[in-house]
This record gives sequence, C-alpha cells and structure tokens, in this order.
Amino acid sequence: METVLVTGAAGFIGSNLTKTLLEEGYRVIGVDNFDDTYNPQFKEEQIAPFLGDTNFVLYRVDIRDIPALTEVFETEKPSYVVHLAGKADTRKAVDTPRLYTSVNIDGTLNILELCREYPVENLVIASSSSVYGNSSQVPFTEDQPADRPISPYGATKRAIELLAYSYHHNFGMNITCLRFFNAHGENNRPGMVPYIWTEKLLHGEEIEISGDGSRKRDYTYVGDIVRGIILAMKKPFGFEVINLGNNTPVSLNELLAIFEKVLDRKAKVKSRPSHGASVEVTCADVSKAKRMLDWTPTTSLEEGITRLVVWFRASRFTQ
Ligand SMILES: NC(=O)c1ccc[n+]([C@@H]2O[C@H](COP(=O)([O-])OP(=O)(O)OC[C@H]3O[C@@H](n4cnc5c(N)ncnc54)[C@H](O)[C@@H]3O)[C@@H](O)[C@H]2O)c1
Repeated sequence: METVLVTGAAGFIGSNLTKTLLEEGYRVIGVDNFDDTYNPQFKEEQIAPFLGDTNFVLYRVDIRDIPALTEVFETEKPSYVVHLAGKADTRKAVDTPRLYTSVNIDGTLNILELCREYPVENLVIASSSSVYGNSSQVPFTEDQPADRPISPYGATKRAIELLAYSYHHNFGMNITCLRFFNAHGENNRPGMVPYIWTEKLLHGEEIEISGDGSRKRDYTYVGDIVRGIILAMKKPFGFEVINLGNNTPVSLNELLAIFEKVLDRKAKVKSRPSHGASVEVTCADVSKAKRMLDWTPTTSLEEGITRLVVWFRASRFTQ
C-alpha cells in the first residue's frame, strides 16, 4: 500500500482528495493546522469522516513548525507528497502579505527540504491561476510569462514554483506544480463566490456582484481537480507546471443565470466595486494537461453547481 502525505488535508481540495485517495486504496497521512482563515469547525467536519479509517492518520501540525513536520516525515516516510496547505485568499493577502509569505513560501520551503531529506517518488504542489495576473494572453498557457501577479497571493504561488524548480535542478527531485483554476463543489471554501451565492440565495438574501458582472472565471469542478492531482502524482516528470482548469470562462452574470436555473429562483442583486487585486478573466489552456496527464475536465459548471448546492443543503444549511 502506497502512502500519500497530503498537506491541507482538512481544507476544501484536501478533504476531497483524501476521500478519493482512500477510496482508491492509498494510505493517507493528513497534515493540517486548522487555521482560522475560515471557520475551523468546517474543517473538523470535513476531516471527521476519515478519522475512523485505519488507512488515515491526521497530524495537527503547522507546516512552519520544522521539528513537528520532520517528525511526520520520519515516522511516515511517504511515497508521495501532495502539498495543498496554504493561505488562499487573494484579497486578504493584500492586507496580510507577511502571513502569506510565511505560510506559502516558508511553509513550502520546509516541504521541499523534507522531500529532499526523505526522498519521495513525486511531490505535487498547489499553484494557482493567479500567477498569470491580468494577462491579456487568453487562454493562459504554462509557458507564457507569469511575472506580473496582481496579488501577493499570486506572487507567493509563483515564488514557490521557482523555488521548486531550483530543488529539482539541484537535487533531481520530481516535482509537479499544478495551477488550479477556481475550484467549486463539495466542501467549497466559504470565501469563494459560488459558496457565498449558494448560502445567500438559499436564505433568500440579496447577493453582490462585483462591477458590471462581466468579470470571468474558469470555474473548475473540485472532483475534476482531484482526478488531475492523482494523475499528476502518479507520473513523475522531473519538473513540470501544468494548468488544471475548465477552458470555459464564465462571467459573473452567466454564473448567476446558472444559479437561478439550478435553484429555480430569481436572485436579488446589487452591484459593488471590483477589488483591485481581482483579475478580469481566468481561462486555462488545458492542452498540456491532456497531453501529459491524459486529463480533461468532464463536469459541466451547471452539474458542479448542482452538486455544490446539494452538498450545502445537506451539510451547511441552517434556517
Ligand atoms: N480552491 C481554489 O480554487 C484554488 C485555486 C488555486 C489554488 N488553490 C490552492 O490550493 C490549495 C488548497 O486550497 P483550498 O481551496 O482547498 O483552500 P483551504 O483553505 O480550504 O485549504 C487549505 C488548508 O491548509 C491548511 N493550512 C493553512 N495554513 C497552514 C499551515 N501553516 N500549516 C498546516 N496547514 C495549513 C488550512 O487549515 C486548510 O485546511 C491552496 O494552496 C490554494 O492556494 C486553490
């Protein structure tokens, strides 16, 4: 049985990944510090289903705590590491940049160092579409310049890609950085638009649309992202950066129409100013993922939003 260490295992993508890995017969070591970026109780609920599984071990460890993290590697000697732990809010990063560099960059450096000390077959690192900033070259391809992120968050993600390359170069480590594009689905992170709208619309509350609603996002179903992570994990390439997106950008206005259809109700909407650290459009070119991982997204946005709503009603909805 192969052992996968998943950092950020209690989070949105991490809990979905943990579920699938356990279903596929892997032993999973979860590392998470249940930070308070959003309600830690949500993370407790997301990890709870695995706690009784003999193939799952949880370490409540901060990735910046080098002795504690070293102990995890020394004890578990994982075959693979999927590094998802991090601070992920584009806008909050503008106000708390030190926190973002500390967790995202220093934390990732600790993972790189430990994967060097305790060699793994492959290390997969969560990067982000935010590395592309406000690039007008759409769809975004992995080889276009990504040196103008507009949030410190995007800058930390680009920085860890660069650090990762240097570890590949100097120590021959297999590392794949995956640039995720706007995940949505079960266990959705609360700060994200699909979650906020689900909550508000189910309560009959007014929702806010930034600007004129024309801002576009390449919403990608979390199950598709999880499939891509596992495919990438099992295929060491040396070093690669690969987009995992939907290649179908949708405006906020179009997203709203999907919500109204799924929920069969008309939304009350008000406009608010766009945040300066929010990009105008994200759109992934996914031909590299197709070519190298044989991965394509298969879940339509309407299906993904339907699953998000079903999950929210069952798990988070309170009258
Ligand atoms: N969700 C998306 O659309 C998206 C898009 C691009 C990139 N990403 C990246 O994917 C990863 C997972 O994102 P998510 O949406 O699941 O976010 P999330 O916030 O739900 O998950 C991150 C997890 O990391 C944990 N964590 C934070 N700081 C930690 C620390 N110092 N030590 C240990 N654990 C810590 C948190 O408690 C949380 O459970 C992140 O690195 C994020 O930047 C996500």
